[in-house]
Order: sequence, then C-alpha cells, then structure tokens
Amino acid sequence: MTSQAQVRTGKGEGETVGVALLGFGTVGAEVYRLLGENSEAFTHRIGGPAEIRGIAVHNKNKQRPGVPAELLTDDAKSLVLRDDIDLVVEVIGGIDYPRELVLTALNAGKSVVTANKALVAAHADELAEAAENSAVDLYFEAAVAAAIPVVGMLRRSLAGDQIQRISGIVNGTTNFILDAMESTGASYEDALAEATRLGYAEADPTADVEGHDAASKAAIMASLGFHTRVKFEDVHCEGISTITADDIEAAQEAGYSIKLLAICEHLVNEETGEESVNARVHPTLVPQEHPLASVNKSFNAIFVEAEAAGELMFYGNGAGGNPTASAVLGDLVGASRNIIHGGRAPGENAYANLPLADFGDVRTCFHINMEVADRTGVLAAISNVFADHDVSLRTVRQEDGESTARLIVVTHSAQERVLDAIVTKLGELDDVKAVNSVIRLGA
Ligand code: HSE
Repeated sequence: MTSQAQVRTGKGEGETVGVALLGFGTVGAEVYRLLGENSEAFTHRIGGPAEIRGIAVHNKNKQRPGVPAELLTDDAKSLVLRDDIDLVVEVIGGIDYPRELVLTALNAGKSVVTANKALVAAHADELAEAAENSAVDLYFEAAVAAAIPVVGMLRRSLAGDQIQRISGIVNGTTNFILDAMESTGASYEDALAEATRLGYAEADPTADVEGHDAASKAAIMASLGFHTRVKFEDVHCEGISTITADDIEAAQEAGYSIKLLAICEHLVNEETGEESVNARVHPTLVPQEHPLASVNKSFNAIFVEAEAAGELMFYGNGAGGNPTASAVLGDLVGASRNIIHGGRAPGENAYANLPLADFGDVRTCFHINMEVADRTGVLAAISNVFADHDVSLRTVRQEDGESTARLIVVTHSAQERVLDAIVTKLGELDDVKAVNSVIRLGA
C-alpha cells in the first residue's frame, strides 16, 4: 500500500547531505576519519557531498585532535533537530537514550543509520513505524557482525528467496574463548582471562559470555529473514560460562567443535503444516567438517540456508572500530543516495507475522556427558530412560575412570521438553553420579 506520507522526493543531484554524528568513541572517530579522508569518493558514490555538521559527545571539552571544536556539542537532541541535518548516525550504544534520539530524528523526517544492536533488537517495531510514517530510511547493517553484510543480505539480496535457517557465530569474544579452550586445553576461566588481557572481552563480559549480545543479533536476523517481528526477549539464550575443558575434550573426541551459535529457524509442523519461527543462542556441537567449525579466533560467520539459493556462508571480523565504521559508512552512502535522489531502501516488513514456536517443541539432537557407576546393568538402566521417552540413541561411548565411568550419549532428534524430562529421570538414578553437561548438536 502506498500512502501520501510514503512518497519521498530527493534534494537533487549535487546537493549536500547534512550529517549529525551521535557519539565519538572508537566507531564514531573512525566514521569521521574515513568520511573525511575519502570525501571525494563518497561524493561520487552518493551523488553529492556528505558533510558532518555536528558531533554529539558526552564531554565536549575533551581533546579530540583534528576535530574542529565548533562541530562538538553536548546537546544531541538540538543537533538532531537542526534544519541543516538530513541524516543522523547513531553510534552511542545503550538503549533508552539512543532510542529517544533516534525516534526524535525519525519523527522529524531525518533518516537514521545506527550500529546499535540492542536498540534495534528491543525496539525495531516502533523505530520501523516512525521511519515509515516519516517516509525516511532506518539502516542498521553494523548491528549484526559489523561489516559482514548480514542485514543487507537478508533485506535485499535474499528478498526473493525463502530463508529456512540461519546459524551464525556472531560473537567474537565467545568464539575466541571457545577456540582458545579447544586449541590449548585451557579452562574457561583462563581463556576468559586471556580474552580480557587481549582486549576482546569487556571488563564486565556478561553480555558476551551469557549470550545476550548474540541474542540481540539473532532477533534481528530472525525478524529480517522470516518477515516476522522477533524481539530480544523472544530468543532462548544460554551462554558459554558453564562449558568446561572436559566438555571441549569430549566434543573433540567425538569429532565436534563447540561453538556459541545463534540459530534462527523457520519450522513447519510435518503433520499440520503449521509454520512458526524459532530463535535461540546456545553452545552447540558443530561437526568438524562443517564450515562453521573452522571459524576460529574472534572471527564471525553466518551460514544461511535458503530455498532457491541453497547454502551460503559469510565470514569476517564481526567487531572493531574499522569493520563497524565500514558498515556504518555503507549505510551512510545508501541513506544519503536516497536523500539526494528520492525513494527509500527496503524497510522492515513483518507481513508474515508467524507465531513463535514454543521452545519446548523445538527438536534437536543432544550430547549428554554423565558420570556413572562402573558396574553391570548401568547402561541398560540409562538406555531404558531414553526408550521410555521414545528417544533413540545415536552413539554411546564409555570411558573408565577410577571408581566411576564417563558415559557420553548422543541422541537422535528429540524435543527440548522431552530431553528435560529425560535429564530429570537420569538424575534420579542412583547409578548416575552426575549429568555433567547437556549440549545440543547443530549447524
Ligand atoms: N562484543 C561483541 C563481540 C562485538 O565480541 O563480538 C559487539 O557486538
């Protein structure tokens, strides 16, 4: 449907796009530097110059060599509302304050480029509605895996396809930690300390290691991929802080790498044909021959399965000042072109409005690592628990310890709720000393 409000005319070829930069941290400073250094190229790519006319910062008296003092302001809202500002670039971070500024900009008819995954994952619906009402653009490529073109790929490149599944390593800090544990045998604590020392992990690493950062990205990918609104709180989220060196070793012995995956699935009930979507983040056993298993260090990769395109993988640096600035500037070019020439980029479209699957109904294969009494009949008792719940076993591996044995069971596909019931039952058996870990298979 087209309404009068959605028709957008351009300023005209050669006109200048006035840009407000909100935030001057690592990303903001790189955006400013790269836009200044390559201004002629940007003018050609856009169809007119893009000029940063103001920079909103917390403390405008702080020394910022190379930045004219008259550009700096601590009044972001007034900057956003200035008549000479056409485009607002938000690289502040957080949720409430940038939400207010971004909504102010959109409602005032200014296009917005944001790198803010938490903001988009929590408030995409109201931001998209504000952009729609004002007939302006809302771009957020940098919100998922920096310069890896995930958002553009889902919004534009695969807009003609049906996406079935997206599985991604979208958090570099946790991938670094898991890779260090796998390649050196380090404990989780030692690998986290190394990630902190090298500057990958924040002083408070909770958002990364508990999967919250990846869950924001999963919500964005699922929303775009399945044309259905999926919010941060809709994403089932488990982090890596409970993964032990023993889990890593057991996985390696069985031919897997443990990765923190963001998995977004379009599900179709085989009996009823009902469709639903699911988005989740959890440690996952990835077969060593799968391309995601070889994504090491702090790299990110997104593996997409689509009906017509088949399997695609996108790989690279998912964080850092330069890669994030690259994504922001790509969006700046797209938004500025539309300001000059008129028209709008493909926006949010949640037309499919599919229901969210109940997490208990989601089916996965499981790798269960137990410590059991080393005596006759134990294996039979354990396999009966699985048989009683109609779950078949794919492999069973036993290693003798001193007084107990380590038993590792890999199941065929089972529902989450059934597996929960099995784990409860296993815990009640006298001969099961501990269920050390339950890790899903995937990718
Ligand atoms: N902290 C994130 C990571 C980058 O480690 O990948 C920002 O989303």
